[in-house]
Amino acid sequence: MISVSLTINKQPVTAVVEPRTLLANFLREDQRLTGTHIGCDTTQCGCCTVIIDGDAVKSCTVLVAQLDRVEITTIEGLARGDSLHPLQQAFMDNHGLQCGFCTPGFIMSALELIEKNEDLDEETVRHGIEGNICRCTGYINIVKAILSAAETMKTASRRA
Ligand code: FES
Ligand code: FES
Repeated sequence: MISVSLTINKQPVTAVVEPRTLLANFLREDQRLTGTHIGCDTTQCGCCTVIIDGDAVKSCTVLVAQLDRVEITTIEGLARGDSLHPLQQAFMDNHGLQCGFCTPGFIMSALELIEKNEDLDEETVRHGIEGNICRCTGYINIVKAILSAAETMKTASRRA
């Protein structure tokens, strides 16, 4: 067994895990953070994407044993009380989802894109979400939602 200390959604977490424990399973089963979805388990769908130290990562490909002292953000870490994160709001406003299964992964990938690209354009968004698959909405409204959230977040940071 391996002991790790990490931060999840700004909360310190210490855990003792089997060396084979995948982050996706750890989040869902040990931490009860079931917003991180598992759609394939083979690194293709992106449903399990979370932010690890600022990078969007497919959590089904990472062992918890590798994560001592890292900072993780999951979809549950985005809203502030009853206020949705601008990305969550933009997906709602732009009809960027139908069944919603892929949505947490898209939102976490989009968060990294927005935080790393000051002037996000459609081509960069389309390239940036290549690792995420949606099987029911189509990508037009997802791209619209991400560009809309990027604008909202840029305006908010200028005001801050
Ligand atoms: Fe991780 Fe599909 S469950 S990429
Ligand atoms: Fe259903 Fe994307 S909204 S898979």
